[in-house]
Amino acid sequence: MRMRSTSAQILVRRLDELGKISDEPGALTRTFLSPAMVRANALVGKWMREAGLAVREDSVGNLIGRCEGPPGAKTLLLGSHLDTVRNAGRFDGPLGVLLPIAVLGELRRRGVTLPFAVEVIGFSEEEGVRFSSAYIGSKAYTGQLRASDLRFRDSDGVQVRDALDAHAARTAKKFALPKSAHRQSRLIGYVEVHIEQGPVLEAEGLAVGVVSAIAGQTRGRLIFRGKAGHAGTTPMSLRRDALAGAAELVLVVEEYAANHAPLVATVGALEVKPGAPNVIPGEVSLSLDVRHPRDASRRAALARFLKQAAQIARRRRLSCEWTVTQDNGAVASSPKLSLALERSVKAVQGRSRSLVSGAGHDAVVLAALTPVTMLFVRCRDGLSHHPYEYAAPADLEVALRVLLDFIGRLAGKK
Ligand code: HGY
Ligand code: MN
Ligand code: MN
Repeated sequence: MRMRSTSAQILVRRLDELGKISDEPGALTRTFLSPAMVRANALVGKWMREAGLAVREDSVGNLIGRCEGPPGAKTLLLGSHLDTVRNAGRFDGPLGVLLPIAVLGELRRRGVTLPFAVEVIGFSEEEGVRFSSAYIGSKAYTGQLRASDLRFRDSDGVQVRDALDAHAARTAKKFALPKSAHRQSRLIGYVEVHIEQGPVLEAEGLAVGVVSAIAGQTRGRLIFRGKAGHAGTTPMSLRRDALAGAAELVLVVEEYAANHAPLVATVGALEVKPGAPNVIPGEVSLSLDVRHPRDASRRAALARFLKQAAQIARRRRLSCEWTVTQDNGAVASSPKLSLALERSVKAVQGRSRSLVSGAGHDAVVLAALTPVTMLFVRCRDGLSHHPYEYAAPADLEVALRVLLDFIGRLAGKK
């Protein structure tokens, strides 16, 4: 079935429009339960309804559009996240929500009825920006959210639980840990469309590819504590400078990861206290993100970094404290679902390409509930988590046609 080109044009326009809904003037930043998220859900919910979906929002702000199937039919899950990193691009997340809406709208326009139900989910929190604990949305949707996930605090000291209670209070409800939205036996699987956020498809001149596995990742926070003091009167030999210790660790992490590919390790956030130019830093909190396709290698690298942090602290008469905020093992895509997706990729693109995702995705969490696979879309220079993130309309049209073909074959209409 050839996709109306206007569907791709509508998708591009909607990505641009949604990409303007931000908590931060002049940049795209849309974090968990923020005012921008409320506005984004209202806009995407409108598009879901225009595509004929019944729309609801769950207790953690996931936006769910459902196209009902015949009585007793199973459900195909499609989706991705609507939250963003800071100063983000407009494709990471929203593409995987708006593209399925466009495909279901196209099927509705053609009068196609499906022998199964389809649910499109816009997960409310995947990036872990506000509370440094990721996947709150998909964990809640799959009944995997735990009380321990609610203890993290944002930079204003607000706890996840307080934010959820406040959000629930808008509809006079009290937040309670949700059960899974579906039983495993009632699901066909989960397919997530996402930009590749890497260089492979562009290097091979391909618009789309199929994800075979998603790398495992551990994220956490290391706090070095020393002693604040006067920058002018404290001799260097008497200092317990927490920032100098943290800086030493940052370089140790970078050097080890650079020599042990495909390991990647990143210190993305650093908070210095008291943070005055004429005061020796007494406390530094740094984020640490460690990823590897093999879980044993990731764990070994993390253990090494923590041992080196302890050695640096001892030598500098500092203390150091480690708190894990996220720990996900590597996840393999469902071979059956991936094969079906590859068939559609070959039908549209001529050939398929299987690749591993270094980025984490909601599919990691959905994999505990149902078979998952992902369709990656080429993005310029492999750039993401950056305002210059870009996927070409022609590639979006290929992805639309692939998902349309995939659903058509699943429905036995091909
Ligand atoms: O950080 C990641 O891997 C993803 O963008 N959440
Ligand atoms: Mn991301
Ligand atoms: Mn993403």
